[in-house]
Amino acid sequence: MWRERALFLILLLLLHHICASKDDQEQHLCPPSSCGKISNISYPFRLQGDPEKCGNKRYELGCENNVTVLYLHSAKYHVQAINYNNYTVRVVDPALQLHNCSSLPLRSLSRSNFSDTYTYYTDTYQAGLSSYENWESLIFEHIVFVNCKHTVRENVKYVKTEECVKWDSKGYAYAVVGDLKAEDFEVGCDIKLVAPTSLRSLNNHSYTSMHWGLAYGFEISWINLACQNHHYCPLRFCYFDSASQNLDCQLLSELDLN
Ligand SMILES: *[C@@H]1O[C@H](CO)[C@@H](O)[C@H](O)[C@H]1NC(C)=O
Ligand SMILES: *[C@@H]1O[C@H](CO)[C@@H](O)[C@H](O)[C@H]1NC(C)=O
Ligand SMILES: *[C@@H]1O[C@H](CO)[C@@H](O)[C@H](O)[C@H]1NC(C)=O
Ligand SMILES: *[C@@H]1O[C@H](CO)[C@@H](O)[C@H](O)[C@H]1NC(C)=O
Ligand SMILES: *[C@@H]1O[C@H](CO)[C@@H](O)[C@H](O)[C@H]1NC(C)=O
Ligand SMILES: *[C@@H]1O[C@H](CO)[C@@H](O)[C@H](O)[C@H]1NC(C)=O
Repeated sequence: MWRERALFLILLLLLHHICASKDDQEQHLCPPSSCGKISNISYPFRLQGDPEKCGNKRYELGCENNVTVLYLHSAKYHVQAINYNNYTVRVVDPALQLHNCSSLPLRSLSRSNFSDTYTYYTDTYQAGLSSYENWESLIFEHIVFVNCKHTVRENVKYVKTEECVKWDSKGYAYAVVGDLKAEDFEVGCDIKLVAPTSLRSLNNHSYTSMHWGLAYGFEISWINLACQNHHYCPLRFCYFDSASQNLDCQLLSELDLN
């Protein structure tokens, strides 16, 4: 009995493999679509209105007023670049204007909005480059906006946003790069907004630089889909290795040691 079962299972797996690779090939046969400055929209992405068989429905992009739009957690973001080499797409909040340091994102967004932060994925996009929690491969840095009842002088992480951002007439507005640890919390301060950036050359002592970072946008990845399609890691986790620019496998225990 077990033999028939095993054979059946193998057949099923084989069939699944054949179907999956056929799907994949067809999707790759579609010519790239284009919208505004994003001229190379191809698998896994598709543009609204593309033929049914093109791309993956979960990665459908819109084209609004000649701007490529990505839908993330029921919010809209403008696509700045798609990097097929490392499975990332860089997006920016539509309210951010490069030359207006008073412009702010419409919505808060942080790593905690992505399920890969805690556990196995189900989301379309990930905030990291591993199919399992891996803090080493963080691709975004947080900028935290705080409003305080008093001035904060003792903590160098608190950078004044005066001129640019003001929350109310009495408060003192600051921005902080990175995560606010317990020891960084100041009494009488409220967190107003958290926004990510993937700009590497961020100067954490200058609000102008933080604003450039926000306007540059942040990278999210489709690493889980890439891993499912092309890289099978038996009893291990698949991740993107930036040194080799390839997908690789890693044991869970190796991850935990890092
Ligand atoms: C759309 O954007 C592209 C690239 O920025 C530009 O070349 C083109 O002229 C724009 N088209 C319209 C209708 O604005
Ligand atoms: C467009 O993306 C595909 C990968 O989907 C890549 O093979 C091709 O080289 C890219 N073309 C350009 C012009 O970037
Ligand atoms: C992905 O590739 C783009 C373009 O080459 C690069 O700007 C970006 O930093 C890369 N991101 C990661 C996480 O390697
Ligand atoms: C800059 O952005 C702020 C906040 O969104 C807005 O009130 C202001 O009108 C903008 N200034 C310009 C010159 O667009
Ligand atoms: C991210 O999570 C925060 C807190 O739950 C929520 O207020 C915010 O709207 C979420 N952002 C998006 C874009 O879904
Ligand atoms: C601020 O940047 C400096 C280097 O420019 C770095 O050593 C420091 O750890 C950063 N601080 C924070 C809070 O990110």
